[in-house]
Amino acid sequence: MAFGLWFTLFELLLKLFLILAFVKKGSAGITSTFTRTKWQSFDIPLDHKVLAIPNGYNAPQQVHITQGDYDGKAVMISWVTADKPGSSRVQYGTSENKYDFKADGTVANYTFYNYKSGYIHHCLVDGLEYEIKYYYKIGEGHSSREFWFQTPPKIDPDSPFTFGIIGDLGQTYNSLSTLEHYMQSGGQTVLFLGDLSYADRYQYNDVGIRWDSWGRFIERSAAYQPWIWSAGNHEIEYMPDVGEVLPFKSFLHRFSTPHLASRSKNPLWYAIRRASAHIIVLSSYSPHVKYTPQWLWLRDELKRVDRKKTPWLIIIMHVPIYNSNQAHFMEGESMRAVFERWFVRHRVDFIFAGHVHAYERSLNV
Ligand SMILES: [Fe+2]
Repeated sequence: MAFGLWFTLFELLLKLFLILAFVKKGSAGITSTFTRTKWQSFDIPLDHKVLAIPNGYNAPQQVHITQGDYDGKAVMISWVTADKPGSSRVQYGTSENKYDFKADGTVANYTFYNYKSGYIHHCLVDGLEYEIKYYYKIGEGHSSREFWFQTPPKIDPDSPFTFGIIGDLGQTYNSLSTLEHYMQSGGQTVLFLGDLSYADRYQYNDVGIRWDSWGRFIERSAAYQPWIWSAGNHEIEYMPDVGEVLPFKSFLHRFSTPHLASRSKNPLWYAIRRASAHIIVLSSYSPHVKYTPQWLWLRDELKRVDRKKTPWLIIIMHVPIYNSNQAHFMEGESMRAVFERWFVRHRVDFIFAGHVHAYERSLNV
């Protein structure tokens, strides 16, 4: 009898130990010593030097580049001129100050409430060679400006590449810290997870003005290496009170994506291949249930993934489909319900998402 009691007690303790061990090791854990400051982060004032307008009449500003085709042999170069349309030409070449080639782009502007944007240029530079440093020049006369970028290695399973992941950037002092840390990291291309400028926190003309300041803010990186864009909730900018009801209006005018190269009819979802990775960009705030354009496109794009050429399959989107935080809990559920089975069946390596402003990762699914 006494032995039986002791055995039961031992069994109970053993079970308790196992439960505690599981709780300690098997549950979600803390993966970083970083704790965010409790202080609110404020937007950098417009007269701060990191948002400065470049010198010179009609000088190109807000210069940024993105991949311009499916396989990394083209670059889309975008910039804004404030005073007049000016030239949409890009001069480029493989040595500094020697521009043997040229390409001509397009220019357009848009209004948002009473704000009238500058002249937004997009110029596709294609037919490039892999793994070459190209120098490029935009603008006219004394106001012209020069930058450079490096093309990626060829599409091949052995092509190494370093992607950076940034989401929810904004234009606060914390944003500046993030950007500076990224630029020291050796990242070669940014996969941007949506929520760019947070200009929609402003009203009236300040929305457009804060898009312009954000364009100048990211130029220090985005003029020299591609940023691959996905859109978040802060890009929707549905503001019927001021008569603005066209979703993603500012984003779509300012940021080009190579959607046609991946047979997408909409710039908000598309795919690129770069080095050894196939990257699929999805739009959390565009229809994605069965039979919608995004659903149909993704179904076909997943069939085009060739793991022999691109062993890494990466998806970026704004809203995470798994999220244990209180913030934005279950917001990715509609996309999870529709796409999760495809992500598992096609053995997606990574899904990167932003939105929650907290670091969290799951075990392999
Ligand atoms: Fe968000």
